[in-house]
Amino acid sequence: MTESQVMEGSPPIEQSGPGWRVAHSDCIRFLKSLPDESVDIITTDPAYSGMNQHLSFGEGRIVGRYHNNEANEHWFEEFHDTPENYSAFLGECHRVMRRDRHIYLMFDSFSLLTLGPLIREKFDVKCLIVWDKVNLGMGHHFRRRHEHIVFACKGKRPLSRRDIPDVWSIKRLSSAPYPTQKPVEVFSAMLAGSVEPGFTVCDPFAGSGSSAIAALRAGCSFVGCDISERAVSLTAERCSAFVERGVDIHQPRSAVDGQIKMRFLTEEAD
Ligand SMILES: C[S@@+](CC[C@H](N)C(=O)[O-])C[C@H]1O[C@@H](n2cnc3c(N)ncnc32)[C@H](O)[C@@H]1O
Repeated sequence: MTESQVMEGSPPIEQSGPGWRVAHSDCIRFLKSLPDESVDIITTDPAYSGMNQHLSFGEGRIVGRYHNNEANEHWFEEFHDTPENYSAFLGECHRVMRRDRHIYLMFDSFSLLTLGPLIREKFDVKCLIVWDKVNLGMGHHFRRRHEHIVFACKGKRPLSRRDIPDVWSIKRLSSAPYPTQKPVEVFSAMLAGSVEPGFTVCDPFAGSGSSAIAALRAGCSFVGCDISERAVSLTAERCSAFVERGVDIHQPRSAVDGQIKMRFLTEEAD
């Protein structure tokens, strides 16, 4: 399938199973294919281009070049996160969400400063969560150890529990089949106070399907997409294995080690 077929034209091609479906599609095209008010929560980790443009060493980019080339297994296509595209994306997110529901949007520091303010135009921003990755990563000045998650609401909805801190200490994955694969526990933390069993969770930047596994674990269904064919395959095989055998084949071990401040997650996982 060519990129133009992924971006426009006929409906997205998808894979599905009991309680999940994932489409090979651009995020905005996929969201446009969903009916109004058809999902209960969006938890997503977009591939921003902002940080990649800012962080460079000499002529090389700090994280290497991104390709939309399935033969290159290391990197992937970026979302072209101009303010216009990001606003269109947020507008579609707002349209497909039911009223009185939550959205969680992950950000690196650069994109948070440039695009984060746009969220207020569509949603009621409630707070900024810090994901502490526990172990150091790369960094030009300070070594990076955290990412941000904006928590916002369409309408009104309180969290269903009051014991969740706004700093989440969840170890980054040291080896994983997909670049920038996030721990399932980051998405489980997003769902912990925001969903009821039976809710539909949506992630339009599904990657390896970590958000899908968190959704299935919480008794929810999942709909999502990714522009990368490889990501769609990983998500589909991961969801199938989880539904059939109850195992997470792409993150076999928990990224949380039972700290007091993350008890809201470890208790659920036990
Ligand atoms: C940061 S990764 C998500 C990783 C995911 N959270 C995980 O744990 O595996 C962002 C994803 O966005 C996808 N992507 C980039 N541009 C896109 C677009 N326009 N529409 C949909 N997906 C896109 C990339 O292929 C990549 O898989």
